[in-house]
Amino acid sequence: MKDTDIAATAKALVADGRGILAADESTGTIGKRFETINVTSTADSRRAYRELLFTTAGVGEFVSGVILYDETLRQSAADGRTFVDVMKAQNIMPGIKVDTGAKPLAGSPDETVTEGLDGLAERFKEYAKLGARFAKWRAVIRIGSGLPTPYCIDVNAHALARYALLCQEAGLVPIVEPEVLMDGDHTIEACDRASTDTFHAVFQALHQQGVALEGMLLKPNMITSGKSAAKQASVDDVAAWTVRCLKRTVPPAVPGIVFLSGGQPGKLATQHLNAMNANHGPLPWKLSFSYGRALQDQALKRWKGAKENVAAAQAALKLRAKLNSAASLGRYRSDAEAA
Ligand code: 13P
Repeated sequence: MKDTDIAATAKALVADGRGILAADESTGTIGKRFETINVTSTADSRRAYRELLFTTAGVGEFVSGVILYDETLRQSAADGRTFVDVMKAQNIMPGIKVDTGAKPLAGSPDETVTEGLDGLAERFKEYAKLGARFAKWRAVIRIGSGLPTPYCIDVNAHALARYALLCQEAGLVPIVEPEVLMDGDHTIEACDRASTDTFHAVFQALHQQGVALEGMLLKPNMITSGKSAAKQASVDDVAAWTVRCLKRTVPPAVPGIVFLSGGQPGKLATQHLNAMNANHGPLPWKLSFSYGRALQDQALKRWKGAKENVAAAQAALKLRAKLNSAASLGRYRSDAEAA
């Protein structure tokens, strides 16, 4: 393992004003997204949609990396260039989702453990050959009555660290994603407790297993109220709670923290990121984005599977990426939304 190379890649992924586009929806998940716009999910419709995203002119100014699903890493644009080459031409690094999903956790019926460690070292070798520079593994933690259990947090933290070290040994930067779900009517305090316990356990496991913190990124949830809670925390509260939780749990050796959007509307996810960077600095790590839905939702809605809508969809993606770039620097202004 060349620690200096992966540290440089990790830093580059969170260079000033840049963040990550998560476009690694599994075949099942992208199918559900396509259903909302009445598009049938086929290898070719998925390819066409991803081509729209990756060929958006100038998006590389705001996006340093894109997380892909296995199928997409192997696909090509209509002009014959591989998607990997399309991204390189935009100065965007290709990344790969390597977990195989959250599966029922034995002994705790309402919780899951993320699988995908079997054969992972071999898969990393192939992904590196195909051009991937970084990877992602998502653990899912649910808040509920008596949940999360320490057992669930523990097994997921252990698997995240196993993945992260295998990833670094293959020369790729691991994005470590412990997602405490927004689902439920819990308070922001409950989210803070579950997230603090989770992030502590994750960094304990990373330390025990020898993961180089300089060569990784953390992809956490923000500290928010539950999605269906009657009382929703304000933007300023979410920013303050999130920064405090991260300061308590994430060592400064980690170069960057790139948030997931977790079902937040696009504008709100931008506002939250901006409030953290505008009002809580200086911070020991970069705070940026690795949004899926918050970056893609408008683009998907405009596209509707039609060629004639590609330009409008690309404009929506580029604007959202630009606004999040501004938020990563604490310079977002809501009047720029109208552009
Ligand atoms: P969302 O931003 O839609 O939560 O997706 C990010 C992601 O990569 C989830 O694993």
